[in-house]
Amino acid sequence: MSQRMKIAVNTGGGDAPGLNAVIRGIVLAAYQKGWEVHGIKYGYQGLIDTKQIAHLTPESVWDITNIGGTILGTASRGDPFRYPRKGPDGNVVETDISDMVVSNFKAIGFGALIAIGGDGSLRIASKFMKKGIPVIGVPKTIDNDISATVLTFGFDTAVTTATDAIDKLHTTARSHDRVMVVEVMGRYAGWIALNSGVSGSADVILIPEIPFDIEKVCNKIRQLELMGQNYAIVVVAEGAKPAGGEITVIEGGKPGGEVRLGGIAKKVADEIEARTGKETRSLVLGHLQRGGAPTTFDRLLSLRFGAAAIRFIEEGKFGTMVALHPPEVRAVPLNEAIGRMKSVPLDCDTIQTARSLGISFGD
Ligand code: F6P
Repeated sequence: MSQRMKIAVNTGGGDAPGLNAVIRGIVLAAYQKGWEVHGIKYGYQGLIDTKQIAHLTPESVWDITNIGGTILGTASRGDPFRYPRKGPDGNVVETDISDMVVSNFKAIGFGALIAIGGDGSLRIASKFMKKGIPVIGVPKTIDNDISATVLTFGFDTAVTTATDAIDKLHTTARSHDRVMVVEVMGRYAGWIALNSGVSGSADVILIPEIPFDIEKVCNKIRQLELMGQNYAIVVVAEGAKPAGGEITVIEGGKPGGEVRLGGIAKKVADEIEARTGKETRSLVLGHLQRGGAPTTFDRLLSLRFGAAAIRFIEEGKFGTMVALHPPEVRAVPLNEAIGRMKSVPLDCDTIQTARSLGISFGD
């Protein structure tokens, strides 16, 4: 594989701090080998409309390690296997245009695709692998819910942002003797809520893995009051749900898109106020958790992932995903990564620690 290899790279799904650092790692490591890297804009859009492909030179990635977002743009919709297109009646319908992507990829002369994405994007990449595109996946998500890697980049930054917000809520909650309920992201996994909640000294943490009983949450708040703590901080994952109840959604899945979660903090806050009589406010941290500069940890992890992707191409390890297994970065089969979601294990040390600190999970 010493001839001039032409590599395509794309970023798909929600952005995550560290994407640009991965791109930098890829471009510079490829350059060392005399290979070319081309950025496919907006997920797979650049392989549908090939004007949206940019040659990435070392100059184009000089100073992007610490910049959030992605220089390639990304897309949460636009899966080529179920591409949203207007039908003759004006309705949007999902159409399979994956053959067009494969033929454009081959016509341009690409030898490999590095797909940087979350669960959804890696699933698409794995389908393209089956259609003959040599793929290496790089796991990205602030949610940290991808199996077969101990961590994804972006997660540490999101937890840092959430922890910082929770720290700020303490002073206002305490000054007003209020309960503050803060909703954090994470989809169907509670990693962000758990790690930021414990680090930010929350009193209650509600995660999807532990369906909660609102009365137990209220009991915790009453207990705190008996001990003289007249305020409380509740961290709730957007995917948390009451025992026997449903997840709260903002919007059902549109064609080619996913369900949008959100709104649980307001529901929990209303219940707490009604049941305890304590003044309660809620807020949704939202996309702040995805923005801004990556933490040092995420920068380093991203650069390592990018450089490893190039090593794995050289070793011909297609159909794999770059994965962190400290102290190593390994190539694991893509199927292992996308087969199941990585939830918070109920017996993990952080849950045990939280319980030892008296934090309630509402169970
Ligand atoms: O997967 C990352 C994530 O930020 C989730 O935590 C959240 O549910 C979702 O993306 C939000 O997506 P969007 O940017 O489409 O609103």
